[in-house]
Amino acid sequence: MNIAIDGPAGAGKSTIAKKVASDIGYVYVDTGAIYRTLALACIRKGITADDERNVCDICKNTKVDIKYVDGEQIMLLDGENVNAYIRSEDVSRMTSSISVYKEVREQLIDLQRYIAEKENVIMDGRDIGTFVLPNAEVKVYLNASVETRAKRRYLEQKDKGVECSLEDIEKDIKERDYRDMHRDIAPLRKADDAVEVDTSYMTIDEVVMKIKDIIKEKAE
Ligand code: DC
Repeated sequence: MNIAIDGPAGAGKSTIAKKVASDIGYVYVDTGAIYRTLALACIRKGITADDERNVCDICKNTKVDIKYVDGEQIMLLDGENVNAYIRSEDVSRMTSSISVYKEVREQLIDLQRYIAEKENVIMDGRDIGTFVLPNAEVKVYLNASVETRAKRRYLEQKDKGVECSLEDIEKDIKERDYRDMHRDIAPLRKADDAVEVDTSYMTIDEVVMKIKDIIKEKAE
């Protein structure tokens, strides 16, 4: 059985999906991290997001891979573990910008489908229920207000000791939402058969329980 969780930045997808996966013994696949790894490769090569030809060149000539160590997803960029470098706001912005390109999406989709074929997965992203795994048995669309999502990101960054402003994060999130929802290929949208869950006023445990209920219902 495969479970698809889609939704905008900061809706809580990764936190929730990771917990549910560990509770029910599924493999958690964070597809944002796959796109982020390629974005990091572009930043390291000094390529700007609007330089489609060079972004696509990097895509062809770079090996993005995943391995799992004790249940943790490790992103490999040409064999190097880059988990520590793919979460910055710079990488977030670059990722959203390069993920509009057709070649980028085509190149990275095989890896996602390959893992889902081999394992029972909970996969989170933007186009999992609509495009990557259209036949997933369970589809959830996690949502929350922009204000809530910005505040969560802000607290997360502060926790890590990163200087940031709430207004900048909110502006960034709005821009990413717009880009992710309005791109030509596989834009972020709720699949027709997905259950929408608004997490704005829910605790993590409440959302985890809700998702497990949805899975249980489907399994019956
Ligand atoms: O889930 P995340 O915030 O780590 O994703 C970062 C960016 O990657 C997001 O703004 C859009 C892109 N992305 C995508 O286009 N498709 C996916 N399945 C996952 C992420």
